[in-house]
Amino acid sequence: MQPPAWASPSRDRYRFVKTLIAFMLFVSFAFWALAGALPSRNATHEPLRFTKDGSFQISIFEDLHFGENAWEAWGPAQDANTTVVMNRILDNESQQLVVLNGDLVTGENTFFENSTHYIDRVVAPLVSRNLPWASTYGNHDSQYNLSGQALLAREQRFPNARTTQMVPSEDNGATNYYLPIYSSNCNSHHSCPPALLLWFFDSRGGFQPRQQSPNALDTTPLGRPNWVSPAVASWFSRTSSALHKTHNRTIPSLAFVHIPTHASLAFQSSSPGPDPRLNPGINDDVPLAAQADGWCADGSEGCAYGGNDQPFMDALAATPGLIAVFSGHDHGISWCQKWRSEGSYGSAGAGAGVNLCFGQRSGYGGYGSWARGSRQVFVSEEGLAAGEVESWVRLERGEVVGRVGLNATFGRDAYEEVPDWRSRGVEEGYYFEGEEGA
Ligand SMILES: *[C@@H]1O[C@H](CO)[C@@H](O)[C@H](O)[C@H]1NC(C)=O
Ligand SMILES: *[C@@H]1O[C@H](CO)[C@@H](O)[C@H](O)[C@H]1NC(C)=O
Ligand SMILES: *[C@@H]1O[C@H](CO)[C@@H](O)[C@H](O)[C@H]1NC(C)=O
Ligand SMILES: *[C@@H]1O[C@H](CO)[C@@H](O)[C@H](O)[C@H]1NC(C)=O
Ligand SMILES: *[C@@H]1O[C@H](CO)[C@@H](O)[C@H](O)[C@H]1NC(C)=O
Ligand SMILES: *[C@@H]1O[C@H](CO)[C@@H](O)[C@H](O)[C@H]1NC(C)=O
Repeated sequence: MQPPAWASPSRDRYRFVKTLIAFMLFVSFAFWALAGALPSRNATHEPLRFTKDGSFQISIFEDLHFGENAWEAWGPAQDANTTVVMNRILDNESQQLVVLNGDLVTGENTFFENSTHYIDRVVAPLVSRNLPWASTYGNHDSQYNLSGQALLAREQRFPNARTTQMVPSEDNGATNYYLPIYSSNCNSHHSCPPALLLWFFDSRGGFQPRQQSPNALDTTPLGRPNWVSPAVASWFSRTSSALHKTHNRTIPSLAFVHIPTHASLAFQSSSPGPDPRLNPGINDDVPLAAQADGWCADGSEGCAYGGNDQPFMDALAATPGLIAVFSGHDHGISWCQKWRSEGSYGSAGAGAGVNLCFGQRSGYGGYGSWARGSRQVFVSEEGLAAGEVESWVRLERGEVVGRVGLNATFGRDAYEEVPDWRSRGVEEGYYFEGEEGA
């Protein structure tokens, strides 16, 4: 082979250039190999595992609503209070994962230039404790000045973020994915099946983010469908069956989605509905806001309910091993229900015994003054074998309320009632029995 013209004067020079090129290639390979070994994006995550005691605890923060009215004192003061709530709960519980279950930011109050920067403040208490987290986005996370895609990009700058996007189209929402959790005695996740799957769904809603430059005049707010897209529901069914098939077993799972499905509203409006002792929790948003509220079956706006979340509900009810689904969105609700085949569930259909739970509103932003807190989900390897988990709510001042076993008899077991407490400020903070409705 002829050396190229610029290398022709002597064979020595040709050999030197070859060596130089080989050396440069080596240096660049070494650089990329090293860069690949650094924590970045999702590349090098350690798999999530049960502890040596065989447990895995999740703290759910929902409706944090960072970023309200940055131009007034109360906005930043609320965010500071929310950070105090998060720190207290993290200090009082020993979780292996934090779930940020939607409405991280109040996007209609933020500026295009720095809307996503609130993520840095949201996750600061998690970063300082080196805790991994996983998010779903809510309706307030998609607004004219904020998009899920931009939030996701900001989150993924942090190595502790497990939030990712497995259903690629932007129309489906950014946060549809699953995370496998491995048993404590699994030495290599390549050789053991996951002990637990965590599914995360994007219930969309809010408004279409602006598509153009900051100066464009595209100011008409365009509503965004507020249900889990049917494409995501079928991705969920397909992927979950494929995982069960690959591992030749039913893998128990939990799911997280910001806006509850219509099954929660159907239960709330059924007779007798949530019972303070069988479904301990507050029930102050009546009727509660659920997926597909305000949309018509044909996908236009302006109806009471279009049934558009039916494919997602069908997928939830048909997934073997799914123990519970956790939602936020309704700040004044914190009960769990057993979504059974028996009983009156209106158009929501049969739920195969999946437990549907609201969390506890965690942020100082957003509506209502209900006591801030965080739902805890405690999974043990023993409990999983029986298809059950434990759950309770840790309030901002340290009290635990509403501890339940999400097991076969949940919905028939009687528990202590949960007090309907409101908060006044974190420091002076005492609770009072509130009058204020939603
Ligand atoms: C909760 O955490 C706070 C510190 O944030 C601490 O003062 C308090 O003792 C803890 N309480 C419990 C029950 O762990
Ligand atoms: C969006 O952000 C811009 C600043 O970039 C601000 O002027 C405008 O008021 C914001 N609009 C909305 C609807 O939040
Ligand atoms: C975003 O910009 C506004 C206006 O300059 C400022 O008041 C606010 O504090 C900024 N927010 C963040 C998270 O940087
Ligand atoms: C799958 O599991 C069943 C029992 O749970 C067993 O009988 C069967 O041999 C397994 N199949 C494979 C391919 O491992
Ligand atoms: C379910 O959990 C509750 C609370 O821990 C317990 O009282 C009840 O016996 C459990 N039911 C079953 C079937 O284990
Ligand atoms: C934040 O907490 C402080 C101190 O407890 C309280 O006085 C104040 O009302 C709270 N501020 C907001 C905006 O919630």
